Amino acid sequence: MAEPTVSISISPDSIALMQAAVRHILALHDESIAARGVFHIALSGGNTPNAMFRRMAGRGYVVRFNWSRTHLWWSDERYLPPDSPDCNYNMAYEALIGSITIPDANVHRVPVSLPADQTAAQYEADIIRLVGPANNPAMPAFDCVMLGMGGDGHTASLFPGTLAHIPADRLVVAHYVEKVAMQRITFTPRLINAARHVAFLVSGSGKRNILQRVLHGPHDPDTLPSQIVAPVNGELTWLLDRDAAGPAA
Ligand code: 6PG
Repeated sequence: MAEPTVSISISPDSIALMQAAVRHILALHDESIAARGVFHIALSGGNTPNAMFRRMAGRGYVVRFNWSRTHLWWSDERYLPPDSPDCNYNMAYEALIGSITIPDANVHRVPVSLPADQTAAQYEADIIRLVGPANNPAMPAFDCVMLGMGGDGHTASLFPGTLAHIPADRLVVAHYVEKVAMQRITFTPRLINAARHVAFLVSGSGKRNILQRVLHGPHDPDTLPSQIVAPVNGELTWLLDRDAAGPAA
């Protein structure tokens, strides 16, 4: 099995990080549309990406995206009422989607109005139907999967102690996460690792210690789920600011 290409990009501060992140996504966008006429990106949730979304919607970049050929998905979603401000979709709508002209059919919101397991099954079916394969004809391959990382090393909604319960053949699952006392809908490692490009966006000194453990500590994905991310034939990029990365060596 091919090892993923891993790169680490460290920006001096969070503002520069968001600029670097948008440029990274734009480069993947250009490459994907040139090669295949479409760009499928799964956005990450939580708070970190909101500044990046706002920059994507800003004058400097918004016109450089071909939104008619860009499809927005979510690598995970909180299973909350659709109008909850804490839904990852709603946070992305406030920071990006509400400010751009993108066909409704290109915005693939996790259907949280269905029962949780049906939500996951429907999202998985939509991905299989709409996201084409790369090297493995049986696997949908996102052009880009954006991920955040929590202070406990979780990513998407893959939390410590939960990986063992995720069926190996699934691409999207719903599971109840004790730690956040919430149902979550999440991409599985199988789907994440089928992507052409995966990018973690990690900012702030609060993530420094856990980032060191994930990047340089013992390999223990059940404890540190971010370590499970290893695109099979893809590229993994860590987009960091100096606060998260720690002092230059
Ligand atoms: C979520 C996210 C989650 C997030 C990390 C980091 O739904 O919460 O998908 O994986 O990326 O928890 O969150 P912050 O960016 O808010 O630190």
